[in-house]
Amino acid sequence: MRIAATNADLRIIMLSNQAADGKRSSLHGHWSSRMAFVLAVTGSAVGLGNIWKFPYIAGQNGGGAFVLVYLACVVVIGMPVMMSEILIGRRGRRNPVATMELLGKEEGSSARWRWLGAMGVVAGILILSYYSVIAGWTLAYVVKSASGVFVGASPDAVNWQFSNFVGDWRLIGLCHTVFMGLAVFVVARGVERGLEQAVRFMVPALLVLILVLLGYSINSGFFGEGVSFMFTPDFEKLTWNSVLAALGQAFFTLSIGMGAIMAYGAYLPEETSITGASAAVVMADTSIAILAGLAIFPLVFANNLDPADGPGLVFQTLPLAFGQMPGGVFFSTIFFVLLAFAAWTSAIGLMEPAVAWIVERYNKTRAQATIMTGLTIWLLGIGSVLSFNVLAEFKFLAGTIFDNVDYLTSNIMLPLGGLLIVLFAGWVMCRNSTSDELGSSGVLFKTWRVLARFVAPIGILLVLINAVL
Ligand code: PFF
Repeated sequence: MRIAATNADLRIIMLSNQAADGKRSSLHGHWSSRMAFVLAVTGSAVGLGNIWKFPYIAGQNGGGAFVLVYLACVVVIGMPVMMSEILIGRRGRRNPVATMELLGKEEGSSARWRWLGAMGVVAGILILSYYSVIAGWTLAYVVKSASGVFVGASPDAVNWQFSNFVGDWRLIGLCHTVFMGLAVFVVARGVERGLEQAVRFMVPALLVLILVLLGYSINSGFFGEGVSFMFTPDFEKLTWNSVLAALGQAFFTLSIGMGAIMAYGAYLPEETSITGASAAVVMADTSIAILAGLAIFPLVFANNLDPADGPGLVFQTLPLAFGQMPGGVFFSTIFFVLLAFAAWTSAIGLMEPAVAWIVERYNKTRAQATIMTGLTIWLLGIGSVLSFNVLAEFKFLAGTIFDNVDYLTSNIMLPLGGLLIVLFAGWVMCRNSTSDELGSSGVLFKTWRVLARFVAPIGILLVLINAVL
């Protein structure tokens, strides 16, 4: 993707924002190909959400029934929201705030839709504030793995490593700082070829390593337990709160509901099929989450761990498995490197709405905008750093500061954002505008329209009302 590198470039392109044929083009350039777009969105979607968050949330919510609801949410709500987000982004071709304002007016509604874009900017900043802390853990685990501390380690030893590590606020604060530095570095330079290359390599490599782990899990003797935990639904365990958690996870893992995909959609060439690209991303993301779960739960049971253990689950199960494998030091190091990469490509998506907004609204350079955004996020992240040590007992509403930021963003802001996005695409935009972008009036378009107008909004509302009110 070519992103305008300097302010001067930006201004020049800005003048030609409206093309002669009436179609807009983005101020930040365009993806070089359909593949580049799919890769970038996949890079944003595949991240800690699949490998770190999905297993522990599924564990905390009792497994099977949660997984089923999550899958249903991905298909009937996630997919139409993603398509809506891309089509809105491509039609507006600006940052999410400006796009929503523009299309709100253009479609005869109101400029106040800009607040939907603004909520996305805020959600991205809040999510990255804690995401970066966990991503920092993966960096530390690269070093730990390479040093060989996990070789032959007992469950207690691995557990001790983890609690000692997160108990040290200076150390995890440092890791958070390093990770934010990396994210700022890439976003400031413009999301160029480097990112495309990274994703092209990273997603398949991550998949291979998950398959290696899966192979190990299958031989652990507890594969059956893992599978039945994940796929035997026990609806007694399902509360409205876990349904909300499943919905929130569907949004989080697909990076939807906050304008990241809208921002990416703004750089999408006219002729690319939105349906095809969305389907590819949803499939890749969902398969990686399911495979990660299948690799992790058997290890949880084989080592007598608790599936409801929380955010430390992956950092406690995987080092154990690697520690017992031939070549474990190598595999473990590579695995955490890839996980850090996966988090990195997601962090970029989380910053993009805020950065694109500052560049366009305040006429700053990309570098300035990124540094401002990065500093804000870093500062907010300190709250999550302290949630695992100094302020671990400081609990309100959903729990620690980390728990609250996570709950507010995943379970409230993303579903609410998604709801407004489908309502906008399904009801506010006229049929012609959407069919123009989705490029058909056939069965696919009709299905999208029914899902976007009725199924997704009603589903989201039902869950939000029952779980929150
Ligand atoms: N989808 C990412 C993950 O699963 O780790 C998290 C994420 C990235 C959410 C980018 C939102 C976003 F804009």
